[in-house]
Amino acid sequence: MTKKYYLTTPIYYPSGYLHLGHTYSTVVADSLKRFREKQGYEVFFTTGTDEHGQKMQQSADKAGLDPMTYVNGIVESTKELWKTLDIRYDRFIRTTDPVHMKAVQGIFQKLYDQGDIYKGEYHGKYCTPCEAFWTEAQLVDGKCPDCGREVTEAKEESYFFRLSNYRDRLLALYEDNEHFIMPKSRKNEMINNFLKDGLEDLSVSRSTFDWGVPVPFDNKHVIYVWIDALSCYLTALGYGSEDDSDFKKFWPADVHLVGKEITRFHTIIWPALLMALKLPLPKMVFGHGWILFDADKMSKSKGNMVYPEPILDLYGMDALRYFMLREFSFGSDGNFTKDKFIARFNSDLVNDLGNLLKRTVSMVEKYTQGVILKGSEEDSSPDEKAFDRELEETAKNMKPALEKAMEELNFSGALEEIWRVIRRTNKYIDETMPWIVVKENRQHRIQRILYHLCESLRLVAICLEPFMGKTSGEILRQIGVTDNAWESANEWGLLPENSLVINGNALFPRLDPEAELVRWEEANHALLVKRGIVKAEKKAEEVEHLPEIAFEDFEKLELRLGKVVDCKTHPKADRLLVSQVQIGEEVRQIVSGIRGTYEPEDMIGKQVAVLCNLKPIKLRGVESAGMLLVAEQSDGVMGLLSVEEEILSGARIR
Ligand code: MSP
Repeated sequence: MTKKYYLTTPIYYPSGYLHLGHTYSTVVADSLKRFREKQGYEVFFTTGTDEHGQKMQQSADKAGLDPMTYVNGIVESTKELWKTLDIRYDRFIRTTDPVHMKAVQGIFQKLYDQGDIYKGEYHGKYCTPCEAFWTEAQLVDGKCPDCGREVTEAKEESYFFRLSNYRDRLLALYEDNEHFIMPKSRKNEMINNFLKDGLEDLSVSRSTFDWGVPVPFDNKHVIYVWIDALSCYLTALGYGSEDDSDFKKFWPADVHLVGKEITRFHTIIWPALLMALKLPLPKMVFGHGWILFDADKMSKSKGNMVYPEPILDLYGMDALRYFMLREFSFGSDGNFTKDKFIARFNSDLVNDLGNLLKRTVSMVEKYTQGVILKGSEEDSSPDEKAFDRELEETAKNMKPALEKAMEELNFSGALEEIWRVIRRTNKYIDETMPWIVVKENRQHRIQRILYHLCESLRLVAICLEPFMGKTSGEILRQIGVTDNAWESANEWGLLPENSLVINGNALFPRLDPEAELVRWEEANHALLVKRGIVKAEKKAEEVEHLPEIAFEDFEKLELRLGKVVDCKTHPKADRLLVSQVQIGEEVRQIVSGIRGTYEPEDMIGKQVAVLCNLKPIKLRGVESAGMLLVAEQSDGVMGLLSVEEEILSGARIR
């Protein structure tokens, strides 16, 4: 019987376009799915969208749309992104799916009927953006412990789940199943922060808004979003519907992949609910770290999002997948920078992997007319035999080492195992020096060296497949291999003799870091403009010309170059600066509306264009004799007219 594996990502809030942080769990889950499939598991992978709640209702109101129309648009863009990233989920569950909603009502009803849910009144601190009630003890500096925002005192009729009944069983669960909360450090976090001092019952309904699943027996209330959202792991398999065959086949989940801030919901509320429903518990909840940007969590509210689309367009899906899996250690936070991405691209993908393939294929073409031959040890020296043996051993050990790393969901470690072989194979080229062997006309030896290179690449390509499918396929294509069976990845010598290499494009083009940063920025900007997040840059102002004037009229303007020798703010007007401007021998006072763009300290020493023969006036009580010339855009952006060369003050401008 095939082994089953059920794997989930969180279901995402469709509150805008997904950024790199969101993409993380899904890329990880997709690689894990492909990896388990390679190992012979039948895998079911659930992802989706979490569409109910007050925040969503408010966002839809703001956009002037009904909530369903509002979320539909965003859900589309989410699915589009998963398609671009070739994410092979089996079920995309939406909490607005009628089948899901009905099943959630069934769950609520069952818990109510058996006394696990009861009606009461909630008094407490409520965080509106997080839709969470907190106890006084949970607040941090009197603010929401999750988002740090203000909370308000709230009182509400509510249904409650008897979470308090489950504290001891939860502690026992953690104790008896060391892999239930991963990484292990999060277990103590849960115990110390939430369970140690007892658990309170959980408010599981809301009556202040209606965008949610109605409580089946009391339509004044909608079901709390987390009950609605967590249940999707069951309903995605058809639980509570007419066809629950997938549920019977795949439940319990092997792993729920979640971000660290929602580990609490998945390791306290979720198992308690499942205990109440008398359902088997998930085997593991893995709380991964955050991708940070400039050491801060990437998030919409901070406006520091890096979007995946420009990266995909410029560098391809495999480069993005590689970077996310390799750079960040799965359980910990990691900082994303474009420099790091480009550096890793050049070192790991271009230098290590791309070059190895390129050099190998070129040498096979050049030295053995494109045919891969096994050669023999006949004309190998003892040292050379040792090089061969070491490469064979390193390559054969890759798959077991990779499998071990993946047991702990150590994606970075798994890729490191593959790169260990890639780097060892590059070193093998330097050690064996095929270009010299050819000159020595040692036929058996050269064939043997090239076979070792191709065979090592075959093993690398097979191991790489779950993580970088396209790259893996291209390597196999170029070395003429069609069989990529997982079982063959720890056996040396299966590459058939007489295979033909195909010289293809470089796997990854070398990047010039400086030029790439500019290209990336431009691509990102174009995306933001397309999505209406920033306005397109205007290339020029719309110009409406004035009637023509004669040269004599122009000559009437006395325009001269001046030099600012002193400048102060206007005593009564925020926007005005009062400058002392030297024009020839004379110093005159000029008031200008340029504060904001310029401060007094920016002005001193500046060469400025002055209209001298403008009739003096008083501006808010301060005399102004002349005018400083500025170029001013219609949106108020401005710059003083000046000259680049040092020109004597008083010089005429014409
Ligand atoms: N809707 C809930 C999950 C319900 S699951 C039953 C939710 N949605 S979310 O859209 O806010 O977040 C989805 C996932 O994205 C979470 O696991 C969260 O940790 C992850 N990430 C969001 N920003 C992130 C980073 N900057 N880095 C890594 N992952 C982060 O929570």
